[in-house]
Amino acid sequence: MAQIDFKALIAHCKEYGFIYQSSEVYDGLSAVYDYGPYGSELKNNLKEYWWRSMVHMHDNIVGIDAAIFMHPLTWKASGHVDAFNDPLIDNKDSKRRYRADVLVEDYMDKVMAKANKELDKAAKRFGDDFDRELYKTTNPRVKGYLDKYNDIKERLGNAMSAGDLEGLKGLIDELEIADPDTGSRNWTDVRQFNLMFSTQLGNIAGEEGKLYLRPETAQGIFVNFLNVQKTTRQKIPFGIAQIGKAFRNEIVARQFIFRMREFEQMEMQFFIKPGTQKEWYEHWKEARMKWHLALGTPQEKLQFHDHDALAHYADAAVDIQFQFPFGFKELEGIHSRTDFDLSSHQELSGKKMQYFDPELQESYVPYVVETSIGCDRMFLATMSNALQTETVVGANGKESTRDVLKLHPALAPVKCAILPLKRNEERLVKMAKDIFNDLRLSFNVQYDDTGSIGKLYRRQDAIGTPFCITVDFEALDDNTVTVRDRDTLEQERVPIEKLESLIRDKVDMKQLFV
Ligand code: GAP
Repeated sequence: MAQIDFKALIAHCKEYGFIYQSSEVYDGLSAVYDYGPYGSELKNNLKEYWWRSMVHMHDNIVGIDAAIFMHPLTWKASGHVDAFNDPLIDNKDSKRRYRADVLVEDYMDKVMAKANKELDKAAKRFGDDFDRELYKTTNPRVKGYLDKYNDIKERLGNAMSAGDLEGLKGLIDELEIADPDTGSRNWTDVRQFNLMFSTQLGNIAGEEGKLYLRPETAQGIFVNFLNVQKTTRQKIPFGIAQIGKAFRNEIVARQFIFRMREFEQMEMQFFIKPGTQKEWYEHWKEARMKWHLALGTPQEKLQFHDHDALAHYADAAVDIQFQFPFGFKELEGIHSRTDFDLSSHQELSGKKMQYFDPELQESYVPYVVETSIGCDRMFLATMSNALQTETVVGANGKESTRDVLKLHPALAPVKCAILPLKRNEERLVKMAKDIFNDLRLSFNVQYDDTGSIGKLYRRQDAIGTPFCITVDFEALDDNTVTVRDRDTLEQERVPIEKLESLIRDKVDMKQLFV
């Protein structure tokens, strides 16, 4: 069994109707993607898993669906107008634009790759006796690479948290970083670039009619905090959850759906008493990690990563990183946002954002711990975790390979495929269609008679269908069919009337709610 590489994963997503490039007929729109028939089913299942575990499984969390457009002052109060920037740099020769910090990070990755290459070579040379950690501190070449890496990392971190654009440019010059596409080192200065997309209200011209497409869903929750609290009679601590689109004019848009300009977030703001933020921060860190693990994601593919530089609103922040095919990267963020957002909205709107605490008999602006996960990143993590190539031995004893998407059955786009052994055998077809029409009332199922059974199995494996039901001649005599398990390839004869409950047991989301 082997994990599929990133290029093959992207090709698989297209070939099997999971993800297409947006506006492909016009050569596509960079960093914007469309979800195909199986992709949208899988994405909906991921959203359902998140929504049910967040909203339905907590008495004190409720959901909302706020508008994408918000009053422009929202973004002034939230700090996004002034501080939601990335440092960009243009190459004067190629006219290409880059994120200055990403150029430095890419350079650091190369330094680290050199260190790792030396370490791997030494591991081969010394065999079982090799002590990797010791070698890092004693081999001058490896130590040199690692010291250089750490030095750049520290200087980059300092420049980023101080907003020191000259320092960032100095680092690029000193390291002689060249345009990755052309090799030119003819750079402009580093400038701040605001990531919000703007558009215009129909009836107001100029700056006054300027609207932003929300860069995070969280603000729709903050401005509705009291509406929700009053109408649902929630008491602190309580949370508000939301799934919705967000938009960012990313300078570096690459790695498929990892960094998009239009994407979807699943966010929950948890409103708490000031002073309790540390405790709730730890609570949500643990709860969110459990949520990921319940899907069967191996622990070693997930890790916490504390933020080096905190966002303008946070007093603590951690990422849950997933081991994507291109390395460990952020999948979800857990942020202790203090009372920054509610206080800012209170100040700018002039409306009170306070909660009256009946136990303390006093009013205060609550603190907030947020969990925020990108739905598309979760989709990419799920696909890259699930897609595998395997060698299998057929009934004829011959070996062949199959691409199989080992999704948790609760997430699978299609729960079961019903396949008649022969498509021109009327009685088999009728029986298969009857089973299909019955099961479709409960699950998303497929009927398929367009090829040999072997080919149909492969196709269902590739889209992650956990069960294939084959209707053969024996079925006509005893009303039993074979059920093939996608992962074990085992086939079991099952009475037709037991199919619904057998599938339900395996695909029910209930089992994920830990
Ligand atoms: N409300 C907090 C917030 O928006 P963030 O770390 O900027 O925090 C949260 O984003 C999550 O949204 C990230 O962990 C990631 O999963 C997702 N995300 C952010 N930018 C994205 C992009 N350009 N494309 C896809 N997903 C993105």
